[in-house]
Amino acid sequence: MSHLSTSSSLSQRSVNIPPFYVMEVLESAQKLEATGRDIVHLEIGEPDFPTAPHICDAANQSLASCNTRYTHSQGLPELRSAIVDDYNNRFGLDLVPEQVLVTSGTSPALMLSFMALLDQGDKCLLPNPHYACYPNFVSALGCHSNFAYTSEENGFGLTPGLVSENLDPETSAILINSPSNPTGYVISSKEMQGIAEIAESEGNIPIISDEIYQGLIYGGKDHSILEYTDNAFVLNGFSKKYCMTGWRLGYLIAPLDCMRVLQKLQQNFFICANSFVQEAGIAALRGPQDHVDRMVETYDERRKYMLKRLKDIGFRVGYEPMGAFYVLADASEFGNDSLEMSRMILNEAGVAVTPGIDFGDGAEGYIRFSYANNIENIEEGMKRLDGFLNG
Ligand SMILES: Cc1ncc(COP(=O)(O)O)c(C=O)c1O
Repeated sequence: MSHLSTSSSLSQRSVNIPPFYVMEVLESAQKLEATGRDIVHLEIGEPDFPTAPHICDAANQSLASCNTRYTHSQGLPELRSAIVDDYNNRFGLDLVPEQVLVTSGTSPALMLSFMALLDQGDKCLLPNPHYACYPNFVSALGCHSNFAYTSEENGFGLTPGLVSENLDPETSAILINSPSNPTGYVISSKEMQGIAEIAESEGNIPIISDEIYQGLIYGGKDHSILEYTDNAFVLNGFSKKYCMTGWRLGYLIAPLDCMRVLQKLQQNFFICANSFVQEAGIAALRGPQDHVDRMVETYDERRKYMLKRLKDIGFRVGYEPMGAFYVLADASEFGNDSLEMSRMILNEAGVAVTPGIDFGDGAEGYIRFSYANNIENIEEGMKRLDGFLNG
């Protein structure tokens, strides 16, 4: 058998895709751990809480009943009903289950939304900083990202004014993400309404709204774009709010007249989401929610502690996050190359953090810290950082 490389035949689109740096940091940290090093993980956006027992029980029972076959491509009807009941109750909407497509995590829902809305060469307006993977999905489809640079003074907020300034005739979709990764920014009702109005007045441009951190907020109220427009593709999932990252369960809510196209894409690419995992999703939505409330209280305590310690250490935090579980801190006091800084912090201090550059050039010089880790580990991480940067 020939061992000659075939990599020269790989498509440029796939070769050019940048890595998801946070996963690279995690993998480097794990490599160090395998050699016996103790690493504090403040990089990964993964809840440290276990999935609630009633959710695990539902999956176990489903497996015990041998629910192991394909489901409807749009998802189990009971799960789709639970999803619309949840959205309708929280936001006063009148969605119907036929508007829901259940996916294996929010990531495939993102992919399906971009595929459904963008033709080759089209543009998608994105905030910068942004969740690392958005522009990579867009460019993998032969499309382009139009970045709307948000500013720290404005709390990294994507405002109606910024959206309006960055639209052009090729813009086929506008992406918003609230609460946001990596900034923790929560878009206000007024701003969301303003963005919806601009999208409508500029030719009814659809809004892709990534609402995966909904429910993880520290004061005030979060909103869904569906309160302000029907012309939206809403993504949400179970990874963060229900601590179900490894289960891979998410969903897409879209206008009824787009569902057939989305269903065909799902049938071809993914067939359906895991059957017994969907049963667990029903239990998550229909079951008790007090574990979520307790988790949010705990995140809030960690958030306050981390903000204080980061400032003591010398990071500048111009915006205090009000949602999700991240702090995006200005590290320019210590250097300008966030990738190099995060490598040094990992190798020298034994703390895994995410370089700002993962979230776009608007976050270069910043480091993202995740407080999805217990307080003892966060305390240890801050102690090590202080020692390394100021010792
Ligand atoms: C903003 C945002 N969207 C989507 C995802 C993907 O989530 P999932 O695990 O549901 O695929 C993440 C994961 O970190 C995220 O932060």
